[in-house]
Amino acid sequence: MPSFGPIAAHYDLLMANVPYDMWAGYYRLLLTQQGLDPDTLLDVACGTGTVAEILTEQGYQVTGFDLSEAMIAEAKAKAVRQDLPITYHVADACTLDLGEKFEGAYSFFDSLNYITTLEGLQQSIASVARHLEPGGSFIFDVNTAYAFEAQMFNQEDQRKRALIKYVWTGEYNPETRIIRVEMNFERNGETFQEVHVQRAHSDDEIRDALRMAGFSSCVAYDSYTLDRPRKRSDRVHYVALIPG
Ligand SMILES: C[S@@+](CC[C@H](N)C(=O)[O-])C[C@H]1O[C@@H](n2cnc3c(N)ncnc32)[C@H](O)[C@@H]1O
Repeated sequence: MPSFGPIAAHYDLLMANVPYDMWAGYYRLLLTQQGLDPDTLLDVACGTGTVAEILTEQGYQVTGFDLSEAMIAEAKAKAVRQDLPITYHVADACTLDLGEKFEGAYSFFDSLNYITTLEGLQQSIASVARHLEPGGSFIFDVNTAYAFEAQMFNQEDQRKRALIKYVWTGEYNPETRIIRVEMNFERNGETFQEVHVQRAHSDDEIRDALRMAGFSSCVAYDSYTLDRPRKRSDRVHYVALIPG
């Protein structure tokens, strides 16, 4: 059962209540906090491109990439429908080589947790660093181990009128910090399944990977606030800078 295969065509419906506009606003707030004002942006693991669309409408020049061909197909079709000049690629964050550099990069909605080894985390952060101009920034969020311990992935929507019904069941191993989530969906009488696997990268692992990749500073926030992360933060945003 692949992840981000069958779900791609239904992803935006499933995410209909996700406050992507607020997320884009929070991204811009974090940029402002650091005195950053990039024009060219790389959306790392862009999925169906909703954040890329919002930022493009706000005047940024955005390129997005994702491992899933199906997600990129959706993103491209939406960009054409909305006449938005976004460039999309199918690529793996661990081996990315687009042959160009950007003033900023971002990755949202726990995409980096889908990279389930420490080596992969280090490779993906190094790939992003190679795609940044001097003075460039990488702003990303991750789910924390606390989120997995608190069974955040055990969710369901079985309401009679739900346009897409789902039941998700997560199994978390605190030793490996890996969660395996079985996802069952039903839409218009059709059922499909995906299995999603995420790793809770520790704060030390993330900071070490950033340092090894050449980032010179890193600030972490309890997501969607300007507060430092807490013990019970389920999501953390990192702001990392390449020296100018
Ligand atoms: C939860 S989705 C988030 C998508 C998008 N960022 C959003 O905010 O809607 C996670 C995405 O990460 C992508 N992904 C997972 N591993 C990846 C990798 N190694 N390289 C690039 N994309 C990856 C998946 O295909 C999926 O589209």
